[in-house]
Order: sequence, then C-alpha cells, then structure tokens
Amino acid sequence: MSTNESSAMDQLSNEELATKLDSDLLPKHVAIIMDGNGRWAELRTLPRIAGHREGIQSVRDMITVCLELGIHALTIYAFSQENWNRPAQEISSLMGLLEYYLSTERTKLIEQGVRFRTIGRLDALPASALQWVRAAEQETAHLDKLHLTVALSYGGRTEIVDAVRELLREAQDGKLQPNEVDEARIQQHLYTHDLPDPDLLIRTSGETRISNFLLWQLAYTELYFTPTLWPDFRRRELLLALLEYQRRERRFGRVLSTISS
Ligand code: IPE
Ligand code: IPE
Ligand code: MG
Repeated sequence: MSTNESSAMDQLSNEELATKLDSDLLPKHVAIIMDGNGRWAELRTLPRIAGHREGIQSVRDMITVCLELGIHALTIYAFSQENWNRPAQEISSLMGLLEYYLSTERTKLIEQGVRFRTIGRLDALPASALQWVRAAEQETAHLDKLHLTVALSYGGRTEIVDAVRELLREAQDGKLQPNEVDEARIQQHLYTHDLPDPDLLIRTSGETRISNFLLWQLAYTELYFTPTLWPDFRRRELLLALLEYQRRERRFGRVLSTISS
C-alpha cells in the first residue's frame, strides 16, 4: 500500500473499511500466526502471560469478523512443538489459559455456530487440557458456520512425517502402490485434509518467518506481515489485512490473461 493510500485508510472508521471490502474476493480460509504476546506484556512491564491473556480478545474479534463476513475457515497457531522448549511455568500458564478459554467460551462458540477443532500432536498436552479440547471438539462437531482450527503442539514438518507414516502403513497393508502417491494423496493424509489451503496467512509482531506452520498448505498462500503485536490485532487490523489481500494478484504461476476470476 502506498503512504497516501494508508493515510487515507487511517481516516476511515471500521464500518467504512468493511464497506470497502469486495464480498466476492474474500479469502475462504485465513490462517494466523498469533505472535508478540510476550513483547506486548514486556512493554507494559507485565508478566508474559498477561500478553497471552489479552490475546484471547483478539481471537474473539477474529471469530466475530469471520462470521460477519462469511469467511468459512480460520486456523490459528496457538502453540508450536518448539514452544515446548519454553520455561515450564510459561507452558503451564498457557495450558491453563487454554482450559480457561474453552471452559468460558464453549457456550458462545456453540451459539455462534463455530466448529472447533485442533491440529497437532495433542497427546503431548496435559490430561485436563486435552479433556477440554476433546469436549469442545465433540460438542461443536455438528456446526459449520465457521471452521475454527487451533494448532496446538503443532509442527508442519511433523504433520508431513505423520502423513508419510500413514502412507507407508497403507503400502505395507498392500493398499497403496508407489505410483499412487501424488500431491492429492499426501494432502488427504495431512491434519488439514478436509480444509482448503489458506488463501491468506497473517503473522503479527514484525517477524517475517513461517516458524514451522502449515508448510505444505502455504505453497500459494498470500503472506501478510504486520508489526502489530497480537494483543493489539483486532477487528480493524483484520479488515486492513483483508483489504490488502484484495489488492493482491494471485497468479499461481500463470500469466494474468489466462486466469479466469
Ligand atoms: C505468541 O506470542 C504466543 C505463543 C507463541 C504461544 P509469544 O509468546 O511468542 O510472544 P513474543 O514473540 O515473545 O513477543
Ligand atoms: C510461533 O511463534 C508459534 C506460535 C505463534 C504459536 P514463536 O514466537 O514461537 O516463533 P519464533 O520462535 O519467533 O519463530
Ligand atoms: Mg513469539
């Protein structure tokens, strides 16, 4: 966006920003690396967990905006496999926060028609957190206004390893020949097998890396990096990201004249 365009956007209210969106050009699937909670807290001389806690309101805003606009899938990176290397106290606070979120938000998610699911090596989670996760998954399994997928104990490389293991098991059982392995077959064995690839990936906090998130699925996703820290990334920031997405030209390796809209 040019400086002029961005200062013009600054003048607009959230409602005006929303009316600028083209409903035919919205992403079907938005993925978010929710980063910067620790720095948000440190800036306020608060403990890191205060940033994680504040970040929950940003998650609520994302869900509300997706529902309002009819964006069908939202996938959020909440805890990576690498995050197990953080101090034990931060890990246990994060797990506590997950339980808190699911226990307080469950009814609202159901009312909103949100299907809650997780991806990752969930067996690494503490038993009580896992119970809350499984309960929320079961209770919302029939809903489909918004598919909310939370990546927990998730690693993109591990997801591919798990897919390869399943394929090898099928081969051992004589159900799969090497020449039957193609992109579609691998995709069917990913944790996200029933979701379209993300159209838009947002990462907050100024970091410009993928950090082992959805490695396979992001092949042709539009990437949006913003310096805004996750707890400050609210409705307005998402609308701005969507407007930027709508200015992108998605070519998928082709030349523009051959792409039908
Ligand atoms: C993102 O915020 C949340 C998780 C990774 C769990 P961080 O905790 O990474 O915050 P920063 O990057 O240290 O500011
Ligand atoms: C990525 O953030 C993981 C999540 C947001 C859950 P990190 O803060 O863990 O990533 P790095 O360490 O900066 O790459
Ligand atoms: Mg971080």
